[in-house]
Formats: sequence, structure tokens, C-alpha cells
Amino acid sequence: MRILVLGSGAREHAIILALRAEGTAHEIFAAPGNAGIAQDAVVVALDPNDPGAVTGYANDARIDLVVIGPEAPLVAGVADALRERGIPVFGPGRAAAQLEGSKAFAKRIMDAAGVPTGRAVRAHTADEIGVALDELGAPYVVKADGLAAGKGVIVTSDRDAALAHAAQYLGSAPVLVEEFLSGPEVSLFFLADGDHVLPLSPAQDYKRLRDGDEGPNTGGMGAYSPLPWPLEHFGGEDAFVDLVTRTIAEPVIRQLDAEGTPFIGLLYAGLVLTDGGVKVIEFNARFGDPETQVVLPRLVDPLSEALLAAASGHLEDCPRPAFADATAVSVVLASEGYPADPITGRALRGLDAAAAVDGVHLAHAATGRSDEGIVATGGRVLNVVALGTTFAESTQARIRGAGEDRTRRRPIPHRHRRARRRGLTRPRQDSTSVRP
Ligand code: AMP
Ligand code: GLY
Repeated sequence: MRILVLGSGAREHAIILALRAEGTAHEIFAAPGNAGIAQDAVVVALDPNDPGAVTGYANDARIDLVVIGPEAPLVAGVADALRERGIPVFGPGRAAAQLEGSKAFAKRIMDAAGVPTGRAVRAHTADEIGVALDELGAPYVVKADGLAAGKGVIVTSDRDAALAHAAQYLGSAPVLVEEFLSGPEVSLFFLADGDHVLPLSPAQDYKRLRDGDEGPNTGGMGAYSPLPWPLEHFGGEDAFVDLVTRTIAEPVIRQLDAEGTPFIGLLYAGLVLTDGGVKVIEFNARFGDPETQVVLPRLVDPLSEALLAAASGHLEDCPRPAFADATAVSVVLASEGYPADPITGRALRGLDAAAAVDGVHLAHAATGRSDEGIVATGGRVLNVVALGTTFAESTQARIRGAGEDRTRRRPIPHRHRRARRRGLTRPRQDSTSVRP
């Protein structure tokens, strides 16, 4: 198959690696891609958010399937344009993608479909926000009603901070004040063809910056799959997945279809396992990042067939995707300064050595090429992904791949130690280093 993947992150690299792993000689194209993707696909200089440009290219290059990675092309109507031209595309049209783009739309669909979620109040003024905060109580959850690149949500016990966060968005859009949902979070992905869904294997992602789940929220610092612990209570993964399929994914897909906005693509259910049952925290209309990087390496069945079946309305004929018992763990290596002000342009060293660690591979997130070789072009630079038969094994491999082994940490050079003692400077590194 000739497959075009839109996007430039580790999620898209993971999709491409899964297509490559099928053993079928697909011709894979990526726009705009990154330096890692360029090793596994033909990178095309194409604006992924331009419906005309993508459609023209897909047509001229005789692409059999377009896979849309990020949300921006969905919201820009790229899937609509491709579908109009009869080009199979895995990704919902603009109207159905509102499930992610508008939290108010998602709440309305969930209410109509009878899907369990937290209570939410839509507020337009500071006064309304204050009333809603008091009604729903602390901890306060305030969300911007639109795409905010993971930065639109605040969860806080500080009422003033909740009000200040809301104030940033008032004027441009209403905000949602939501009931706090307490419990472990699970990400579960479904392939959808407008009518039917097929579940993938669950994962958890970690959003806080630092070890020990501390520091500010980020776009995601790591993930693992499967989830034996949180799902034991439900009778294991299969029983949990069946429950979410029946009570959440199928009703939502049916509701969207009934409203004339069929959802074709990846339905990402962000769930909380509360004492009162499984509830939806959010939907996304695309593969999750970084969860995809740990889910797809465990997929046994060919990804391309499942994506094409969804894109062409034939999921009913497709078997439920099977996953290896292997455990997958990933960690994100980010540039110094991430998330506030990441330093870019530094060269990456040790990539080959990291990928040579048994069970480890790299998914590139923000990398480019310069005279110095591969350099960091953004905050989240690389995902180090490790597969093992147990979590202990994959975590150890992941630690070796990311060069995090504390017993073998490189000593801080003397001049830096001296300077640090004197409080003169932070230790400087002139490269973002991946040490095996
Ligand atoms: P969202 O952008 O909706 O995915 O929210 C980002 C993160 O904020 C989620 O993954 C949760 O960790 C947290 N969050 C969002 N909504 C709630 C809620 N109602 N209760 C508790 N935590 C939440
Ligand atoms: N892992 C969170 C997201 O993809 O939105």
C-alpha cells in the first residue's frame, strides 16, 4: 500500500514503525515528518493543515490511505477534503472532530448518548465561573472550550488560581467548570468506521514533568501498556475493554452517526476509574501521544489493514486487533527548559547506542537535521521505548536506553562542580545526550 502519514511527532513515528513492522513492503510517505521519521519513510514538504495541498499530493502520488496524526489537520478539514475526492483517510471530518476540539460539544454528545462523565457547567463571565466553582467544589477543574495544546486545563484547590486561569480564556470562548473525577486514569483507543468500533489495548500516560509525578503538567512525559494493576478490579483487561466498548465507545459513535457527523478514525477515550464507575474525562479524535508509542509496538495484527478497514467502512469484517503479552514502557527525553522555554538546536549524541540496547527503540518527536547531525527542534525530543516480558525488564531496558542509570551517571566535571558550589552557574551541557 502507498500510505501517507500526516504529522511530525513521536506518535507519527510510532505509527510508521508499526506499518514497517508488518513485513509488507508498504511505500510510506510522511508530511512534514522529522529526522527520525526520515529514516523510515519518504518525507514530503507539504503543509499537513492545508486540505487542498494534501488532497492534491495524495491524488498525484496515488496514495491508497492517508493517516492523520495530530488534531490540527482534522480541525482544518483535511479529512473532509480527502473523503470528497474519494481518497481513503483515517481521521474524522471537521464536524466529528469537535468531539476533541469543543469540550461543550463532547459533553452534549455524552449526555445524549447516556455516557458517564463528570458534571460540567459552561460559564461566560467571571461571576458565572465563581458560582460554578462554589457549586462543584474543590478541587476545581477549569477547562478552555477549544484546542489548547494540553494547556487549557487547570486542576487546583486554589479558588483564585482557578479564577485566574478561567480569566485567560473569557472573552475569546466560554469555559467549562467541571466536577473533579478522582481515580486512576486510563487511555483506551478505538478504531471507528462511522458505525462500528474495534478497541486497542489500554495504556496510561504521565503528564507531570518530573520523576515521582511531580512538577507542572506537560504534553506527556511517558507511558506504559498494558495495565494489569488498575484493571484487575474489573476482571482483567478484556472485561474492562468490553465494558468501555459497550457503555462508552459504541453509544458515542452511534450518537455521532445519528446526528449526521459519523466518526471515522481514532476515538481516544480518556477515562477515570472512579469509585462510582468508569467515567470519561475527555475524548480525543486522534491517537494519543505518548500512549501510541507503547500501544502500537504490542500490536500483533497488521495496522494498515485495520486502518484501511476503518477508513473504508469495513471494520465489521475485521477481527479485533490482538496484542502481544509483552510490556512496553516509554520515557520522553525533553530539552532543557521544557515545558516553559525549551532550548532547541542542540545536537543529539548516542542515538545509535541507545537504539542498540536490547528491546529498545527510539521514536523521534522533535528532531531535525543540521550540519551537526540530528538536533533537537522542540521541547519533547525523543521517546525511548522498551519492550520486555515483564515491567521490570522493560523498565530496566528503558533506563539503559535513556541513559538514566543513576549508578553509572557521568560525573559532573570539576569546573562545573566548583561553579555550582559557589552558586555561580547551573551546569551547562552543550548537547542533549542519550547515553547507553
Ligand atoms: P484534558 O485536557 O481534558 O485531557 O485534561 C488534562 C488532564 O487534566 C487530564 O488528563 C487529567 O489528569 C486532568 N483532568 C481533566 N479533567 C479532570 C477532571 N474532571 N477531574 C480530574 N482531573 C481532570
Ligand atoms: N496523552 C494525551 C493526549 O494525547 O492528549
